[in-house]
Amino acid sequence: MPAHSNAPFILGIESSCDETSAAVLQGRTVLSNVIANQLLIHRKHGGVVPELASRAHQQKIIPVVEEALTIANVTKKQLSAVAFTRGPGLMGALLVGVSFAKALSIALDIPLVDVNHMQGHVLAHFLTKPGDQAVTPSFPFLCLTVSGGHTQIVRVDSPLEMHVIGETMDDAAGETFDKAAKILGLPYPGGPLIDQHAHHGNPERYRFPHPKVPGLNFSFSGLKTAFLYFIRDLEQREPDFRTTQLADVCASIQHSIVQILLDKIKLAVHQTGIRTIAIAGGVSANSALRAALLSAGEQEGWSVFIPPFEYCTDNAAMIAGAGSFLFEAGRFAEPDVAPLARMPF
Ligand code: KG4
Ligand code: ZN
Repeated sequence: MPAHSNAPFILGIESSCDETSAAVLQGRTVLSNVIANQLLIHRKHGGVVPELASRAHQQKIIPVVEEALTIANVTKKQLSAVAFTRGPGLMGALLVGVSFAKALSIALDIPLVDVNHMQGHVLAHFLTKPGDQAVTPSFPFLCLTVSGGHTQIVRVDSPLEMHVIGETMDDAAGETFDKAAKILGLPYPGGPLIDQHAHHGNPERYRFPHPKVPGLNFSFSGLKTAFLYFIRDLEQREPDFRTTQLADVCASIQHSIVQILLDKIKLAVHQTGIRTIAIAGGVSANSALRAALLSAGEQEGWSVFIPPFEYCTDNAAMIAGAGSFLFEAGRFAEPDVAPLARMPF
């Protein structure tokens, strides 16, 4: 919907993990999308510390929401609804966003809309910028949703009808990137750093085992363990491998993860006959995954949808966008809605 339409203004709030984010949308048009990340808070601990995340959300939520309204040039009184991430995520972190959203909806006397974070990632494909024509996937489409905590193939029949047709049985793709980076001594979150180092490396230099999981489910734990032993052996043989071979090691593990993901997408296309393919979630920012999907799309004749970088990792625009679909359908949350650390799709 264009920003000049009568589409409602929706405030979105995301606080499921280590990003405090608020966005203002008119319909699906993003007027602002403010993200305060907590990288420096968690980095020295090598991963997200839930209690520190909750405290940082508490400190950031008011200034982030105010900034989002200011950038959008929208007043609180103009808002038609408050959409928030109900789950899945860290309980204490979610609580901050849920409580804030509830308080605002009561104070402004506007509806509260609860959003599933993973559905938010999928619906990021429907966001547009003011003045831009939306180019969106047609239904039904398949979305590979790959984040720090999830790896799913979702069949999307409409904005509000989605089914997970495959998912990881152990680690998520993002977790695998982060653990591989940790094994290499790279700081958290390691996914983007592996991506950077891999640019200069040879992805065929080292080969890692490809899991044999039937159907559309994934498994990454075997790959993670194989990588751990591989690095232990390599370090014994070549103690300075981090200075001489880091790029090849990163390119090779990245290649393995991307191949596992791509093989399952191909199988999903084969099984469902759906040839419109999207990716979403933090790992969809990975340059090798984006390139591999584009080239598979060309070879196989798929229509491929890759989100802009700003909508790959956690952000509130995707929550407000998903919230706008729910708002249009009149699907509001009850005032006693509680966050869910694990939330069914
Ligand atoms: O969706 P997201 O921001 O948060 C969750 O909902 O989990 O995803 C975060 C994950 C992290 O594991 C991070 O390492 C990974 O996405 N990630 C990447 C890249 N950018 C973010 N992984 C590989 N390559 C990237 N460029
Ligand atoms: Zn996410």
